[in-house]
Amino acid sequence: MPNPSKSLLYSEVFKKLENLSFKSTLDLACGPMMMRSKIKTDKYLGVDIDINNLKFGAKSNPGVRYKNCSIESLVVKKKFDLVICLQTIGINSRFNIKNLDRVIKKIVNYVSSGGYLIINFGPKIPALDIRRYKKKYFLNYFLIKQELNYGIFDYKVNNFFHKIIFLIIKNFKFINFLGGRKYVLFFCKKK
Ligand SMILES: C[S@@+](CC[C@H](N)C(=O)[O-])C[C@H]1O[C@@H](n2cnc3c(N)ncnc32)[C@H](O)[C@@H]1O
Repeated sequence: MPNPSKSLLYSEVFKKLENLSFKSTLDLACGPMMMRSKIKTDKYLGVDIDINNLKFGAKSNPGVRYKNCSIESLVVKKKFDLVICLQTIGINSRFNIKNLDRVIKKIVNYVSSGGYLIINFGPKIPALDIRRYKKKYFLNYFLIKQELNYGIFDYKVNNFFHKIIFLIIKNFKFINFLGGRKYVLFFCKKK
């Protein structure tokens, strides 16, 4: 059963990606590389701690490169036109939120100048911390093209209700504030 909040996140991200193309993409905590088909990119590097996800992704997306390691231990010298990290920070149970400041700094550093960063934070990250990262990293080094606070309908529902709720939260975005801001999506362009 689909989750309207999760659908909202991906629908916003896919819409933004439609008109962009990249030379290189770094997909951090890529999972089974579901994002790959939505990104027009020459090179794609997926990183994940789960080798089964990576193997599955590589099988369905020929030509991708991947690294089986954590974001924290990743060593790559290059910078990327697009860096994404979705549905992981403060969301995935395997992601360790300790030393998050250092991890965000690392993620931000992978974005080339003029490149894009797409990242979301989930309910396990206090709003105050997100505000601090926003000020320290995103506002300093990026133009924030979109900041979406959402998460009011963060439940799995049947297809019928999903359609209705999804349309409401997509078209009347202010409604997302009502339930408290559980999730935040940042879509940024590096200065
Ligand atoms: C919900 S999936 C998200 C997949 C993908 N980003 C997407 O949006 O479709 C979360 C992924 O994060 C990975 N993960 C969790 N902690 C990680 C870490 N510290 N470094 C790398 N991958 C991590 C998990 O193995 C899992 O595949």
